[in-house]
Amino acid sequence: MKKILITGGAGFIGSHVVRRFVKNYSDYQIYNLDKLTYAGNLENLRDIEDAPNYTFIKGDICDAGFIQQIFVQYQFDGVIHLAAESHVDRSITNPMAFVETNVIGTVTLLNAANHFWKDKTDKRFYHVSTDEVYGSLGEEGFFLETTSYDPKSPYSASKASSDHFVRAYHNTYSLPIVVSNCSNNYGSFHFPEKLIPLVINNIQQNKPLPIYGKGENIRDWLFVEDHARAIDVIFHKGKDGDTYNIGGFNEWTNIDLVKLLCKIMDEKLGRDPGTSEKLITYVKDRAGHDMRYAIDATKLKNELGWEPSLQFEEGLEKTVDWYLANQKWMNDITSGDYQNYYKEHYQA
Ligand code: NAD
Ligand code: TYD
Repeated sequence: MKKILITGGAGFIGSHVVRRFVKNYSDYQIYNLDKLTYAGNLENLRDIEDAPNYTFIKGDICDAGFIQQIFVQYQFDGVIHLAAESHVDRSITNPMAFVETNVIGTVTLLNAANHFWKDKTDKRFYHVSTDEVYGSLGEEGFFLETTSYDPKSPYSASKASSDHFVRAYHNTYSLPIVVSNCSNNYGSFHFPEKLIPLVINNIQQNKPLPIYGKGENIRDWLFVEDHARAIDVIFHKGKDGDTYNIGGFNEWTNIDLVKLLCKIMDEKLGRDPGTSEKLITYVKDRAGHDMRYAIDATKLKNELGWEPSLQFEEGLEKTVDWYLANQKWMNDITSGDYQNYYKEHYQA
């Protein structure tokens, strides 16, 4: 029996990772530790919450005493660490929350693993990170595992710092670790502060679709279930101490992506072609907005055989279908505090 601690499992990507592990590994016990911040939502895991191999633990990764207590109580063999503050715009207005959770929280978990894993064989600390640590690309080139770190937002700076700590614990204390750096994810259960679910929700509500700057910034999009499958493969087969880049070879300018979403939504909602595009509204650019991200995931393909499974149009259509079928999920999380966030952020 493997006892695996997954942090941040009530969030977007974490919920897909938890679901995959609970369903695919009935001989593992999966512990989901989550503070349930604004981004954490137990509705994301309703379908597996009663599974016998699943336990939810509410708590903060920054609380060292609590983290030590659960390491003693549950005797974890592995950690898959996803808990984080994850939104670039929020990192611009409140960087300290990102230092706390992403840096101090990560080091708190590393300390516990390093302290309690006396026998380090068959243990693994898997740190889930982002391609944003590599900075911003021009028109050419890709991020490789060997690309130098050059984080440019408070979010990416905090993730870069946590990545460095994870590797430092491997180098200094021989803690068994693996790190992955992934491109932008999309799919179900995505909090609508991020571009794709925000645009889907706003189209439904006939609200403006805010495009920062000229909409020419480029992101490399990956279906979230492909990311969860990559995490599964790397957790089980990745080489100790190694880093793997994860991405879909799928670059889109923001404006082209939003136009594609408008087209899909018009079709699904039975609206005349061009209806949703009229909602596109150019707004003030994000401060320090990274121009282009693009991942080269060749190492992951060559060494561990992982490849993305879906074409983007197919994944996006699947995603739109999910949001249209789950309007209550969206309505629940966009009531309350979200309204204040939205007003402050977009009407400032
Ligand atoms: P998310 O914001 O949807 O979820 C984060 C989860 O962490 C939430 O459930 C939240 O409640 C929890 N959390 C936050 N602070 C916590 C704390 N102090 N203690 C315990 N739990 C806490 O984030 P996401 O988009 O699912 O991202 C998950 C991870 O993947 C992050 O580490 C992020 O940096 C990384 N990542 C995200 C993307 C992306 O496109 N979203 C891409 C690459 C990497
Ligand atoms: P986002 O989903 O916040 O992810 P990240 O900043 O981590 O890449 O944003 C994706 C892209 O969309 C990014 O270039 C910023 C842009 N964007 C908008 O143009 N308008 C918006 O309202 C949001 C949230 C993002």
